[in-house]
Amino acid sequence: MKVAILGGTGKFGTALTRRLASTDDVVIGSRDAERARAAAAELGVRGASNEDAVDGVELVVLAVDASAALDTARALRAAIGTTPVLSVASELTVKGERSLAERVADELDAPVSAGLHTVAASTIGEEQDALVCGDDDDAKALALELAGRAVAGRAIDAGKLRNARALEGLTGVIVAVNKRYKAHAGIRLTGV
Ligand SMILES: NC(=O)c1ccc[n+]([C@@H]2O[C@H](COP(=O)([O-])OP(=O)(O)OC[C@H]3O[C@@H](n4cnc5c(N)ncnc54)[C@H](OP(=O)(O)O)[C@@H]3O)[C@@H](O)[C@H]2O)c1
Repeated sequence: MKVAILGGTGKFGTALTRRLASTDDVVIGSRDAERARAAAAELGVRGASNEDAVDGVELVVLAVDASAALDTARALRAAIGTTPVLSVASELTVKGERSLAERVADELDAPVSAGLHTVAASTIGEEQDALVCGDDDDAKALALELAGRAVAGRAIDAGKLRNARALEGLTGVIVAVNKRYKAHAGIRLTGV
């Protein structure tokens, strides 16, 4: 799959890129094209400015710092157009009724899915499930395909985008569990 990972210079984007580099055509995006190219060279993929990175890809992964997700989506609205977007962002302090992913969707003309919130950068590729939700079936299918390669377990369709609020909230749960048990927890659904 041709995929742009915006914020691909960061902790999560770097880990996801490393995982996908051998199976997907990945381009790392950054606010600074030079920084993207330097990070990409180390991972054997391409790098570009966020705006150029989204050009011609099948899926955009919005993996910038969560506090910058809305501004980044707003700034890239024209460049992203109708290309499907996967938002992985979680706010540890929930702001308002609606999820960050739903608010990202408000800023874009593209169909937005949300997922991978329980998959820590340090546990990408490990045996765990990845939950993905979204309203557009085709866009969600792409996000699920990518999520399925990001973990050794399964990518699970978690329903409509309104469920993003619950998925985003799981990040805080995982962080609390990790602190309590000095662990690197992931999620595994039973009965599916
Ligand atoms: N870390 C995890 O384990 C984990 C797990 C699941 C989901 N997530 C989600 O993944 C996303 C990235 O997390 P992370 O830990 O990788 O974050 P991070 O390292 O702090 O940031 C990722 C990238 O965001 C870009 N960025 C930072 N501030 C920005 C701003 N004001 N405007 C635009 N871009 C900005 C930076 O790229 P440039 O400076 O190169 O532009 C940075 O390398 C977050 O939304 C987080 O909720 C993280």
